[in-house]
Amino acid sequence: MGEPYTSFPSDAFVFLEGGMVGWGTICGSNAGANIVANAIIGPRIAGPECENGAAIGADTLQWYSETALPTFTPKEPRQKVKIIQTTSNSPLCHVSVGKWMKEAGYALSSPERRDRCARVAASVAYQLVQNLNAWKDGTYKQLSAWKPASNMGVTAQQNCTECHGSTIPTPPAAKKI
Ligand code: HEC
Repeated sequence: MGEPYTSFPSDAFVFLEGGMVGWGTICGSNAGANIVANAIIGPRIAGPECENGAAIGADTLQWYSETALPTFTPKEPRQKVKIIQTTSNSPLCHVSVGKWMKEAGYALSSPERRDRCARVAASVAYQLVQNLNAWKDGTYKQLSAWKPASNMGVTAQQNCTECHGSTIPTPPAAKKI
């Protein structure tokens, strides 16, 4: 492919593991997909949302949240046991890994959990490439009803009830000047 891909500083993004240096925030595969989409297409721009990397990035987060993961099974898996699928309802590492660990019964340090996360990363990469190919072919359709955070009054994933239950706090409205 040539530049900028040949000199892309991949090592600079290793910190995304464990939801960013182990803090369990955004799953690194979601962060990686957004970096790649924005590197290829460019960042949020004026105009139809589907023409920019932000929309494809937002689609990844929604797809990740709603899909039973991992969807990808390697031809020759490192772990021969069945790796179960769970739906996180969140793009966050902590929530995704926590729900999988609870359901599967494997510890964080287990080879099964590591294999699960490797497969999740591959699943997200696959989904991203499908979207990028569609974008290149002019057939990409935005999956998510993604809106900029300003429409929700606070930066957040869109399903507030996942964490707040039925008592979602109301963000203060903008002050009129
Ligand atoms: C990933 C979990 C999560 C999601 C999803 C989430 N929140 Fe929160 N939110 C929190 C936590 C944790 C706090 C801190 C609560 C505390 O200190 O009691 C918080 C605090 C807030 C606050 C600050 C004030 C308060 O009264 O606690 C507001 C407002 C808020 N959330 C609104 C929302 C809205 C609106 C959505 C959906 C668009 C949302 N949240 C989605 C976890 C979440």
